[in-house]
Amino acid sequence: MKKITINTSPSYDVIIDDNILNTVNETILEYIEPCKICIITDSTVSSLYANKVKTSLKSSGFLVIKIVFPPGEHSKSLSTYSNILEAVADEGLTKTDCIIALGGGVVGDLAGFVASSYMRGIQYIQIPTTYLAALDSSIGGKTGINLLRGKNLVGTFWNPKLVLCDPTVFNTLPTIRRMDGIAEAIKCAVVTDKSLLGPIKNNSYTYVIERCVSIKKSIVEADQYEESLRQLLSFGHLIGHAIEKLSGYSVSHGHAIAAGMIYEARAAYKMGFTDTDISKDLETILRTLGFTPEVSYTVEELMKYVIMSKRIHKDTIDIVVPIEIGKCKLAKLNMYQLEEYIRVGKE
Ligand code: GLY
Repeated sequence: MKKITINTSPSYDVIIDDNILNTVNETILEYIEPCKICIITDSTVSSLYANKVKTSLKSSGFLVIKIVFPPGEHSKSLSTYSNILEAVADEGLTKTDCIIALGGGVVGDLAGFVASSYMRGIQYIQIPTTYLAALDSSIGGKTGINLLRGKNLVGTFWNPKLVLCDPTVFNTLPTIRRMDGIAEAIKCAVVTDKSLLGPIKNNSYTYVIERCVSIKKSIVEADQYEESLRQLLSFGHLIGHAIEKLSGYSVSHGHAIAAGMIYEARAAYKMGFTDTDISKDLETILRTLGFTPEVSYTVEELMKYVIMSKRIHKDTIDIVVPIEIGKCKLAKLNMYQLEEYIRVGKE
């Protein structure tokens, strides 16, 4: 069992342990009093794990309800969000009750946003069931939904009360979802720690999760609200989110981020922000792991979504510049340079 405390405001523990889902009641009781718990999940995860969690919590006196929505990025919408809020209210959840986000990144972002806004905020627990959610999105308190004009354009920072991660659940993950996690782990390796590449390739899930959570801990403790340093974790996401949106979310997050990282590395080099072009090495690593990092969209198409980035402040944007694999820095671009950056990043 590994416990990592994230010392943000408020602080919370991340507990990583094989089969922790079997004793979820005992662990949660150490953090909250018996109350009404609303499990928010998607239909795929519901059929795999919701009953186990529900039964365990009920045995310790929690009153448990469940709200289920269809799986996939399309559910991160205003309409699903409002349906869940109405259902939560119909179930009579009060300010002292609790939400559990049981699932991957979509579930965590959506349920977290519900928790942050219902009655101006109630406590929630993240139980990530995907590799990506375990090593990245369940940590750091970002919540949100998509708008037609782009990904994650509405949301809040709302830290969970607790994050419980059971690495044995990744055994049921389809390859495409496993690769979402691998792409985010590669991002972490490129940004801060090259030595992660070996364990990522060997599918050493527990080690990779513990290391990525520790890296994210140090970053969000220094910059909880993404005003500077935390933007390093967005490497590959400026282009990656545009690709996801342009494809109508038919390109998975992992493939989009893989393509985005290569694109952004090449663009930063060609703009002269770094002496090293890591894009070729990165492409080799990603192709070896099964990614097909192609960008079939035009500069104009990409720009339409890039300009919606939350990272644009006063007509400037911080881009992530790889100095080498394992070390990145931020650099500022004005809007003319941003267009140039998107143009030169294209092969
Ligand atoms: N996923 C990047 C972050 O949480 O900042």
